[in-house]
Amino acid sequence: MVHQHLIANFKMNLLDSEIRNYVSQLSQSDVLKKPRPVHLKIGLAPSSPYLLSCQAQLSKTSSTLDLYAQNISQATQGAHTGEVSAQQMRDCGAQGSIIGHSERRSLHHETPEILVQKMEALNQFKMRAIYCLGEETTDLSDQNLDQLLKEQVDILRDFPSTQLIIAYEPKWAIGTGREAEPQHIHRVSTYIRQHLVNLYGQERALNIPLLYGGSVNAKNLSPILDLENINGALVGSASLDLDHFIALIELFINANL
Ligand code: 13P
Repeated sequence: MVHQHLIANFKMNLLDSEIRNYVSQLSQSDVLKKPRPVHLKIGLAPSSPYLLSCQAQLSKTSSTLDLYAQNISQATQGAHTGEVSAQQMRDCGAQGSIIGHSERRSLHHETPEILVQKMEALNQFKMRAIYCLGEETTDLSDQNLDQLLKEQVDILRDFPSTQLIIAYEPKWAIGTGREAEPQHIHRVSTYIRQHLVNLYGQERALNIPLLYGGSVNAKNLSPILDLENINGALVGSASLDLDHFIALIELFINANL
C-alpha cells in the first residue's frame, strides 16, 4: 500500500527552544498518542542545527515522527566549508532530505545536474528523497507544463523508487496564500503518475507517494487529499503554528482511515 505523508517544512524558522517545545507538545498531543495505521506518516523538516535535539525529544517520548533535512550537500565529504553531507544529516537523525525545493532552485541556482548529485548522495547512504518539482508561473500552456514536468521527473531515473517521495509544489502557490485548484493538482498529479509508470513500471510507480505543497492550510487540505493521485502534503507556513499543524494532522488521519 502506498504510504501517505504529512510533512512540515519549517524552512529557516524557529529557534532551538521553540522547536523543542513544539516537538514535545506535538509528541504528547492526543492526535499522536492514538494508534494510527502504519502507512500514515507524519514528518518534520527542521533547520539542520536542530535535527539532533528533535531526535532526542522524539526518542524521549517514543514518538513515531519522521525527521528530514531540508537540504544536503551534493558532495559526500571533504573540503566543502559550510556544507553538510547526507551522511552527517543521517547521523543527526534525518531519514532523508528535501531535494529540489523551488526556493533552492531559484535562490541557490540548483541545476538538474546538482539535483542528480544530491540524489546520488542520498542513495549512497540509503536515505529517502522528498523531491520537489513544479512550474514557476500560471501562464504555461498545457504542452509546456507537461514538457517541464517530464524533464523534472526524468532526472529521477536512477534513484530507487522505494526511497522516493515526490512533492508537486508550483512555485506560484508557495507562501502566497494562493493554493492550486484541485482540478489543476489532479491534472498535474495524473500526468506525473503516468510518467512515473513509464519510468519505473506500473507496480513501483503506484507505490511512490505523491504530495502536494503550496499554501496548504486547514481549510483547503481535505479536497486536496481526496484527489486520486495525491498521497499527502508538504506544508510550510501553516506548520509553524502547532495548533494549526495538529488540525492538519487530524484532517490527514481522518481522510486516510
Ligand atoms: P507554504 O505552505 O508556506 O506555501 O510553503 C510550501 C512549501 O514550500 C513547503 O515545502
